[in-house]
Amino acid sequence: LLQHVKTSTDISSLLTDDEFTASLQANKIWASDIAAKDPEFFKNSAKGQSPDILWIGCCDSRVPETTVLNKKPGEVFVLRNIANVINPTDIALLSAVEFSVKHLKIKHIVLCGHTSCGGVKATLANNKLDILDVWLQPMRQIREKHADTLKTLSAEDREDALAKLNVQQGVDNLRRIPTVVDAIRDRGLKVHGLLYRLSNGHLEQIDTAEDEKASECRQCTFELK
Ligand code: CO
Repeated sequence: LLQHVKTSTDISSLLTDDEFTASLQANKIWASDIAAKDPEFFKNSAKGQSPDILWIGCCDSRVPETTVLNKKPGEVFVLRNIANVINPTDIALLSAVEFSVKHLKIKHIVLCGHTSCGGVKATLANNKLDILDVWLQPMRQIREKHADTLKTLSAEDREDALAKLNVQQGVDNLRRIPTVVDAIRDRGLKVHGLLYRLSNGHLEQIDTAEDEKASECRQCTFELK
């Protein structure tokens, strides 16, 4: 059995290819660059974090939250999954929300979708994708619910529309997580919806406003006596 146990050196040599080696080199340059510009940066970073934002976005390599928000390490708490789906029983989601909302006391939750999302395209196509079909099921339900509107749109507009609907539904689901319900009531936590446009790098706000009655009504259904 022991012969299968590799040391970290062995593993990294197995992974070595040009891109990987270049990335490690780039990291060394980046770290010394930051240290030269701000000698306290890594010392402070090691002490702890106090981000104001929990960002929930897609895994897509083209939407790196810290970069598109022009922030530094330590300023955004992050959870990314395929197509930024908010599944109310996803333990990874609930843990990230619990830790950042209850313990880090973040002030904003940002749910961000993006144009040309592979998960959205997959939901609109009718191919069988195995495990991804299970993951994308909540979005397929949104597609079903809005089928009449979606079919009147061009292919590109349909993708954008479903990406937005997915964010709107996700924000709605986020507002029903008990930790979030409490933080909205007790300290005015805000939940926002965004769409990142790949073609120009801009973040667009998605309307996720709800009237006071809806918000009160939701609050009531969660009020424990
Ligand atoms: Co995506």
